[in-house]
Amino acid sequence: MSTVTQPLRDEHKELLPHIEELRTAADQVGDAGLDVLRASVAAAHDFLVQHLVPHAEAEEKVLYPVVASVLGAPEATRTMSRDHLEVGALTQELGALRRQIATAAPTAAQERDLRRVLYGLYALVKVHFVKEEEVYLPILDERLPASDAAKMFEAMGHAAGDAKAHAH
Ligand SMILES: [Fe+2]
Ligand SMILES: [Fe+2]
Repeated sequence: MSTVTQPLRDEHKELLPHIEELRTAADQVGDAGLDVLRASVAAAHDFLVQHLVPHAEAEEKVLYPVVASVLGAPEATRTMSRDHLEVGALTQELGALRRQIATAAPTAAQERDLRRVLYGLYALVKVHFVKEEEVYLPILDERLPASDAAKMFEAMGHAAGDAKAHAH
C-alpha cells in the first residue's frame, strides 16, 4: 500500500547503502592499505557532507515542524534534532581525521578515533532512520492529508537543494 510519506521512505532507502559503507570504512581501519582507507574515509565524508547533512537540514526546516504541529507539541522533535546535531559534530570530526591522514599514515590514536567516529555515525544514523520511519512516518500517514504531504515534500526538496548548494 502506498502511503503519503513514501517519498521519505524512498529517500532513506537510497541513503542506506551509504550508511552501510560507514561501517565498512570502520572495518578497514588498521586492516586495509592506506590508499584504500583514505578513499573509503573520503567517500564516507563526502556522502555525509553532500547528502546526509542536507537531508537532515531539510527535515529540520520542513518535516519536523510538520510532525510537531500534527502532534501539537513543539518539543516533540527535540530529541531527534539532537541526533542531527550529533551527526553534524561527528561529520566534522571525520573531516578533520580525513585531513590528518591525507599526508601521513594514521597514528594508533587516529585509528581509534576513526573507528569510534565511523562506527558511532553508523549506529546513530541507523537507529535515527528507524525512529523516523517507525515512529514519525506512521503518524503522518495517519493524520496528514495527501495534499499537505505533497506540499511538504516539495518544500523539503527545495530545502535539501539549498543545503546541498551550500555544502562544502
Ligand atoms: Fe533525520
Ligand atoms: Fe531522515
